[in-house]
Amino acid sequence: MINNFNKLLSPIYPFYNLYPIASCRYGIEIVLRTIVQKKKKVQSKLYVVLPAYTCQVVENAILASGCLPLYCDINETDWSISFSEFSKLLNQLKDQKKEIIAFIMQHTYGITPVDRAKIIKICELNNIDIIEDLAHCSHVFEYSSNLFDDNTTAIIGSFQSSKSISAFQGGMLGIKKNDKESNEIISSILANEKQSFSLRLLLAQIIDTSLNLIDIPFSSAKKIRSLISYFYKGMTYYEKKFIYLSYKKDFFRRGKANFITILFINIALFNLRRVNERRMRLCKIYSEKLPINNVIKSQIFNGNILILWPLINQMHKDILINNVNNNIISNWFTPNIFPNSSILNINNNGIFPNAEKLSSNSSSLHTNISKLDEYKLKRIIKTFKIN
Ligand SMILES: Cc1ncc(COP(=O)(O)O)c(C=O)c1O
Repeated sequence: MINNFNKLLSPIYPFYNLYPIASCRYGIEIVLRTIVQKKKKVQSKLYVVLPAYTCQVVENAILASGCLPLYCDINETDWSISFSEFSKLLNQLKDQKKEIIAFIMQHTYGITPVDRAKIIKICELNNIDIIEDLAHCSHVFEYSSNLFDDNTTAIIGSFQSSKSISAFQGGMLGIKKNDKESNEIISSILANEKQSFSLRLLLAQIIDTSLNLIDIPFSSAKKIRSLISYFYKGMTYYEKKFIYLSYKKDFFRRGKANFITILFINIALFNLRRVNERRMRLCKIYSEKLPINNVIKSQIFNGNILILWPLINQMHKDILINNVNNNIISNWFTPNIFPNSSILNINNNGIFPNAEKLSSNSSSLHTNISKLDEYKLKRIIKTFKIN
């Protein structure tokens, strides 16, 4: 099973040793624990920078590692962390004699951060490790095979049910092949921390996988997924408001992936090509008919596939309003992923205008939809004229 996992994913991430884990969030946590151990840090306050437009679970994973999250505003064009804001934050922390040990390079929606090269350079100069968070663009050959050489510490991918290649739950961790020490630390953590068996999770995995294989319309699949998430307790109370002890005890979402999760990840990966080809077709249509900006448009045509297609201007909103009764569009949703956590005030200023603007303006269209949805959507989108 693990051999097959490696055979399917290694060509996408050739510079990394890959480990199947219970969730992507757990990958973030253990990479941070590894970095802390490697740098032999004993002081209690070590900071990790992450974009202000993100998901609560990323912040929780940082807290679970014992580090402290430090938000940074994003650029208006690519919705990824801004180099100038990042540099400001770095200088501010230096003045306060506080230490940043890692940076989460989030590839939000599947857009490559335009400031990535500059950030890698400044991180190298300041001994800051980089974790590439590929939760939104995991397992896309065109995206990853050339981008990730060995200049960042780790890559993290997700197989969670809101992602394009879903096994209901699961994650992938990649550690640079030439970083022997980190690989050893990760292997020893995974030898001790193993995902527990859960009947409820098994049921959710079976249902979710069947929905994917049958390729049923997105609206119905979403309702069923919400139901199974509810029974499995998708986002538990201690994650909504982070509670360290309960979180750390949860070996259903944490640990080395068990046999069953690896099995479902392998099944999900059989769909890889079909799902990604469909998503790519949709992204090309969206970017022609609902353009966002030239940065995003050119990335799409060079192989990026977005997990969600954000709707951000009046024309985009008209589509929603005019088609609310349509089966597909009725459950487009508004991701409100700007963090609202109490930890935010750690940052002192706590002002992130671009992240706030994006989260209040955008709603999204999925790119991982069924064949029938694709057909209907194309008909709707075609009637739109760009003025
Ligand atoms: C940017 C980002 N990183 C990480 C994760 C965590 O993925 P997982 O659910 O596999 O832990 C998510 C959301 O689920 C996410 O949106």
